[in-house]
Amino acid sequence: MADTTIVGASGYLGGELLRILVNHPRIGRIIPISRRYAGKPVSSLHRNLYKIFDKNFEDLNLEKIDSDVIFFAAPLGDWFKSISKLLERGIKVITLGGKFRIQDAELDREVYGGYENEELLKERVYGLPELYRDEIRTSRFVTNPGCYPVSVILAIFPLIKFKDKLDLKRIVVNSISGTSGAGASPSEFLHHPETCDTVKPYNITFHRHMPEMEFILGEKFRTELTVSFIPSVVNMSRGIMSYITIFAKEIEIDLSKHFNNFYKKEPFVRVLREEKENIPTLGSVIGTNFCDIGINYDTKAGRILILSAVDNLIKGGSGQAVQNMNLMLGFDEKSGLGLVGGHP
Ligand SMILES: NC(=O)c1ccc[n+]([C@@H]2O[C@H](COP(=O)([O-])OP(=O)(O)OC[C@H]3O[C@@H](n4cnc5c(N)ncnc54)[C@H](OP(=O)(O)O)[C@@H]3O)[C@@H](O)[C@H]2O)c1
Repeated sequence: MADTTIVGASGYLGGELLRILVNHPRIGRIIPISRRYAGKPVSSLHRNLYKIFDKNFEDLNLEKIDSDVIFFAAPLGDWFKSISKLLERGIKVITLGGKFRIQDAELDREVYGGYENEELLKERVYGLPELYRDEIRTSRFVTNPGCYPVSVILAIFPLIKFKDKLDLKRIVVNSISGTSGAGASPSEFLHHPETCDTVKPYNITFHRHMPEMEFILGEKFRTELTVSFIPSVVNMSRGIMSYITIFAKEIEIDLSKHFNNFYKKEPFVRVLREEKENIPTLGSVIGTNFCDIGINYDTKAGRILILSAVDNLIKGGSGQAVQNMNLMLGFDEKSGLGLVGGHP
């Protein structure tokens, strides 16, 4: 059994971490940290946990933490300076925010600013098991991927075999996301009357997940690539659907068969295989750790069109973090993650 601490347990990802970990067969003590709600019952905020997890939030005091793993489900803050000390004390660290996802000090500084620690940056492993499983298994410090990048990177990665046929300088990605992607703090941009009957594109020339996609795919494809990325918020609470276009010279093989083979051993990537068009359904992944992918080839336009669906709070956040924790602790990778979506 392992003990865990969740910093940011009052937030959306923190809440989902709690929901997953309370049913995890290998997890003992869970310490929920919240600075604002310390001393108050967790279920007074996360009402879904009433009579399931009857503990109070505890205040942030990292020097006193005694756990096997600590999740930082919080935006960048002073806690980041404590990571080295936590690691020295034998505590494994998983961060869910953006800092250090990009293993290039200059680019990381440009995108996320804040603290610098080259040694720690060198040590961190990008927490996407489908690309870095072996490294995650032996790591003490994992940075969980961004929610949009999970949907996009998993959808493009199998094309590595055909990289010479692809126009990697003109990858086009449009994604729609639910409003929970921005966290639990209220904002004018996401105020209900402003979002309920509309689609809101935002950060259309630069979103901070763009360099992350380019960096990680570039590292794997061993070449520079360019992603044009337009995210939009739509009137739903959770879920991301990414629409990816890659221009390509003719590829003769059956791409959905190739994707299926590529991911056949992956427990959380499901590749669709319909007769006509492969279109994933958001409802099938909401509340689950799955990424559902549909790949299509439009011969007339010479483009590969991939659709990829994830729950931003699970495979795009807390489920991914638990999958990483399972690997880091030598547990079954699927432990606690047997979540299935609903229908309709
Ligand atoms: N929402 C998503 O879909 C998603 C997906 C992937 C990654 N992320 C990233 O994951 C992180 C958490 O996201 P979220 O959506 O759960 O955010 P959230 O709902 O706003 O919750 C974050 C929590 O972190 C705590 N916090 C804030 N600043 C802190 C600090 N300096 N030190 C310690 N705790 C602090 C707050 O709790 P108290 O004030 O109560 O302590 C807050 O409730 C963010 O960096 C976000 O970018 C989000």
